[in-house]
Amino acid sequence: MNVSVIGTGYVGLVSGVCFSDIGNKVTCVDLDETKINNLKKGIVPIYEPGLKELVVKNTEEGRLFFTTDLSQAMKDADVVLIAVGTPEKETGEADLRFVEAVAKSIGENLDDYKVIVTKSTVPVGTNRYVKSIISEHCGHENFDVASNPEFLREGSAIHDTMNMERAIIGVESEKAGDILTELHKPFNTEIMVTDIETAEMIKYASNAFLATKISFINEIANICEKLGANVIDVAKGMGLDARIGAKFLQAGIGYGGSCFPKDTKALVQISGEVEHDFQLLKSVIEVNNKQQRVLIDKAIARFGSLSGKKVGLLGLAFKPNTDDMREAASIVISEELVKQGASVKGYDPIARETAAKVLPQEVEIVSSVNEAIEDADIIMILTEWDDIKNIDLEMIANLPSNPVLFDGRNCFSLDEVAKYNLEYHSIGRPSLI
Ligand code: UDX
Repeated sequence: MNVSVIGTGYVGLVSGVCFSDIGNKVTCVDLDETKINNLKKGIVPIYEPGLKELVVKNTEEGRLFFTTDLSQAMKDADVVLIAVGTPEKETGEADLRFVEAVAKSIGENLDDYKVIVTKSTVPVGTNRYVKSIISEHCGHENFDVASNPEFLREGSAIHDTMNMERAIIGVESEKAGDILTELHKPFNTEIMVTDIETAEMIKYASNAFLATKISFINEIANICEKLGANVIDVAKGMGLDARIGAKFLQAGIGYGGSCFPKDTKALVQISGEVEHDFQLLKSVIEVNNKQQRVLIDKAIARFGSLSGKKVGLLGLAFKPNTDDMREAASIVISEELVKQGASVKGYDPIARETAAKVLPQEVEIVSSVNEAIEDADIIMILTEWDDIKNIDLEMIANLPSNPVLFDGRNCFSLDEVAKYNLEYHSIGRPSLI
């Protein structure tokens, strides 16, 4: 099949590359000329394991193309995927500017039948709106719109796409449903065809539910700390019940990233528009906002004042295996540390450049764990990268500055830490003093 993908952000690029890898001819379109020229040379703008290799392989094998020319990309396409950004407005609403602009261009270039698929996460009802913009600009209705939400996680995006657990296809015609079912067949996955509004809602409901699991276990963690229970074992015990499931019950310093914070706020907004007060989801967001600051509260409880304290932050990206800093807890934490008068060094194996752009200027970004912690009074673990989980605790315990370790991701078992003379505070577990 011939597929065009408009927008080479995370979702667009990964989807385009994976659709080409299963044998389709894929053309990826973006307005950003530098990005497109780089992609043609195999230079990938984001850090995502395995992505570069697949870009190079599929380009060399003649299945993957990059262009800034939307009309050219539309020519032979059977399916056109819209994968442009839907940033968050100040109100929490999704900003549809880019989707609207792309719909207009698609309309202007639509000669024969195609399925226009929205992959971007858009409010329920947007596909019908996209349809009206396209037909206004092409002057006919010889096309279908469809919703095909994306569930890939950053850091494992290629794996998640190639091994997708389900493909949700929201359509209003059998023809579009058949074409998109055919397109997804090689992924060997559960294909669910629904109406368009349902598909759009499945995406929001899925992300809101996962965010709810995280805020729920973080609340349990906070209570565990007061009662002397261990949240890791609580989560394990809960997860043994297949109705609950063990995944997404890792207590920590809250969720970040490009999806959960944005999509939860957008769903509250969408619900508000139909006069439904989504109380549960509002609490999930509130709990997460508090949880991102929990290490600061712990450090203040321990030290009284953080003024003049030297703090080493380990891990800055919102989660491991990505350089994405969007809504990372490290932003809130370092802003607060700077405000309290602490001096802060931050280390991340991959996200140093992206971090330097968004963290307060006062934060010194360093290039090794050792530099971040050598003279620290306080060490905070914010992201569970492998090299941070494998850190030598004995070395930390022997540092002359005698640092206190605050572990926001529960990277070590209490038995392991107890072997060393180290003050250790984690999430939802008794402190070791
Ligand atoms: C998420 C969804 O998983 C994906 O399906 C959707 O399409 C996009 O949003 P992503 O943001 O890449 O993917 O990362 P994910 O692995 O889901 O983690 C999100 C955040 O939740 C991270 O900050 C992570 O640290 C946090 N998290 C995750 C927890 O705090 N505890 C957990 O148990 C799981």
